[in-house]
Amino acid sequence: MNVLDSELIRSSLSDAGYAWNDDASAADIILFNTCSVRGHAEDKVYSALGRLRDWKEKSGTVLGVVGCMAQKDAEQIFRRAKHVDLVVGPGRIAALPDLVGKVLAGETPHLLISEERLGGDPESVLASFEHYDTERHAAARPSQHQAMVRVMSGCDNFCSYCVVPRVRGPQKYRPSADILAEVEQLAKQGCVEVTLIGQTVNSYLHEGITLAGLLQSIEKIDGIERIKFVTNYPTDTTTELIDTVASSKKCLPYFHIPAQSGANSMLQRMKRHYTIEQYREIVEEIREKIPTAAITSDFIVGFCGETDEEFAATVELVRWARFKNSFVFKYSERPATLAAGKLADDVPYPVKQERNNTLLALQNEICIAENQRFVGEAVEVFVEGISKNAKKKIEQMPSETFDADAPYQLTARTRCDRIVVFDGSLSAIGKILTVNIARADAQTLFGNL
Ligand code: 5AD
Ligand code: SF4
Repeated sequence: MNVLDSELIRSSLSDAGYAWNDDASAADIILFNTCSVRGHAEDKVYSALGRLRDWKEKSGTVLGVVGCMAQKDAEQIFRRAKHVDLVVGPGRIAALPDLVGKVLAGETPHLLISEERLGGDPESVLASFEHYDTERHAAARPSQHQAMVRVMSGCDNFCSYCVVPRVRGPQKYRPSADILAEVEQLAKQGCVEVTLIGQTVNSYLHEGITLAGLLQSIEKIDGIERIKFVTNYPTDTTTELIDTVASSKKCLPYFHIPAQSGANSMLQRMKRHYTIEQYREIVEEIREKIPTAAITSDFIVGFCGETDEEFAATVELVRWARFKNSFVFKYSERPATLAAGKLADDVPYPVKQERNNTLLALQNEICIAENQRFVGEAVEVFVEGISKNAKKKIEQMPSETFDADAPYQLTARTRCDRIVVFDGSLSAIGKILTVNIARADAQTLFGNL
């Protein structure tokens, strides 16, 4: 969501005549696009703002905070970082160029967030967040051959630990005609892969059209070769959706389905509306119908009252499911969530840390074993770009020695979303090719064209 928001911010500012500058010290405007999902992400923004204080005062650069933290902590940001000029919530991104213009004209400071504020009964904090679909431009896309397409904004689930419904507002689905028009336009611009995004993308429903229906329509769009979708809510992973992916040539066999915990008692405290038995049935149905599918998950460790038994159930789920990857987070209490105030954040930090390490170590073993199975195989990959190392090398090269046809280290992804590194010419970027896998570690497959 944040990556797409950043792209849309770039698009709207470039429409207003601003240009991107890789050198922050030469910029007239610096915006921090923020995340509120865990406290740590917010702390980092305050530190970064603090580091810019003296310099900002000398240079007069416009300094802004946008995104979820802006929505959640608006006045607090102005209090803690008095040198900030602009605070803009994620529902008001479309107004950003106008506000930046005002600040540059000397009107300061500016606060623009959606009207609903934190506080009170969390479940009543719903309503008029603007749905924002800012015009997007190919030049602002991080990759010319890939794009994210928002199919919904906000979330109505109110999982007890989660701040998202408060900062991103109520669930709103975009009309499918708008989504298809956007994908058609992307295809015309040379985009090969689209990723449909939403907090619970698989609960998409608009005028009778489900996510499966949407995928079937996108399948027919010429030029689009790969379709992904994130993030899934477990029980909205319907048979219709699994069958659609199973029979599709373009939908990738990759499902990110956050389980959060392997214990039913914990899922109840988290207000996740499924049991672990239901979760397992979904995994089984995917494995049976799409044997090559990769399934990934998110887990929160050390949530309120987590016992050794509850954590052991999570370990057991990870061992059983053989996820392609698990993203593990230590519980971080968020203000105005259902858990904050009602449930004690009582798992000591060292225990959270230890559970985090235990789960990651197990997942790492699974990653290595599963990736080793690719060694000796020929796999279809989509070439995403040049590796970080190769990029650095090229940047340091005198321009007369640069040869676009020489092999450079490229990064690609298999259909099941595994990262592949191989040497190839820059013209391979954006193409679908076959790579022979020679070796593998936990996160990467290494191969040759
Ligand atoms: N503390 C820790 N992790 C969280 N997540 C969401 N809220 C919290 C929180 N308060 C995790 C969930 C979610 C992922 C995006 O972030 O696992 O799936
Ligand atoms: Fe947060 Fe739950 Fe909504 Fe995901 S489904 S964004 S965890 S409230």
